[in-house]
Amino acid sequence: MRRPLVAGNWKMHGTRASVDALAQGVSRMEVDASIDVAVLPPFLYLERVQQILAESPVAVGAQNCAKDAWQGALTGEVSAAQLADVGCKLVLIGHSERRQLFGETDEVISRKFIAAQSCGLMPVLCVGESLEQRQAGRTLDVVSEQLGNVIHELGIGAFSNAVIAYEPVWAIGTGLTATPAQAQAVHAAIRAQLADESPSVAQAMRILYGGSVKAVNAVELFGMADIDGGLVGGASLNADEFGAICRAAGS
Ligand code: 13P
Repeated sequence: MRRPLVAGNWKMHGTRASVDALAQGVSRMEVDASIDVAVLPPFLYLERVQQILAESPVAVGAQNCAKDAWQGALTGEVSAAQLADVGCKLVLIGHSERRQLFGETDEVISRKFIAAQSCGLMPVLCVGESLEQRQAGRTLDVVSEQLGNVIHELGIGAFSNAVIAYEPVWAIGTGLTATPAQAQAVHAAIRAQLADESPSVAQAMRILYGGSVKAVNAVELFGMADIDGGLVGGASLNADEFGAICRAAGS
């Protein structure tokens, strides 16, 4: 049995006041003991969220890290070691917004993935196709290439302590959600690809779905055989809604 994980990606949202209020709302959530929950605030607010959630089972993570693990002359970057130092447990790697808007390649993503792991952070590798790619019937090829390139760089062993998030780009922030069947098909393909390399890694891998997850669609999505939780954007900015999504993962 895989332990479900629900992670809230706050993206570049919030002020000190709104972040405090949201974190306090999250700290009041009753988290089912059978699931893991995490929030991923902007870098600036990591420490205050960490403090507010100090007594809560909800983990704190980051949305990105530098490709160099430790420290150096890299103006504006934040390293995995620094994230671990302030109490982060996990970090998103290769979110589609990083791939599309910041030009992150699979090579950069592989370096970030291993930087995170070497500092004790759990990498959450994001993969997913664009609308154009889906319409061209290339979804499984695109996702398989994104994943395959990281496996090729780092080896399947690197995946024994990682999470994968399938986020179809066309479903992110659009209100369009992949149907449970559409998501399940991609999740199953990801698991099969992992199984070709290592059945035990495939069996244990948590594969999250992301893209307009809300309380109203979470139960059905999380009910699919290969969907092990969610990566939630907009709906995670409301503690009540996020709490309801977490309950769906525990049900
Ligand atoms: P939305 O839930 O707002 O569609 O965002 C999904 C996402 O990108 C999470 O990383």
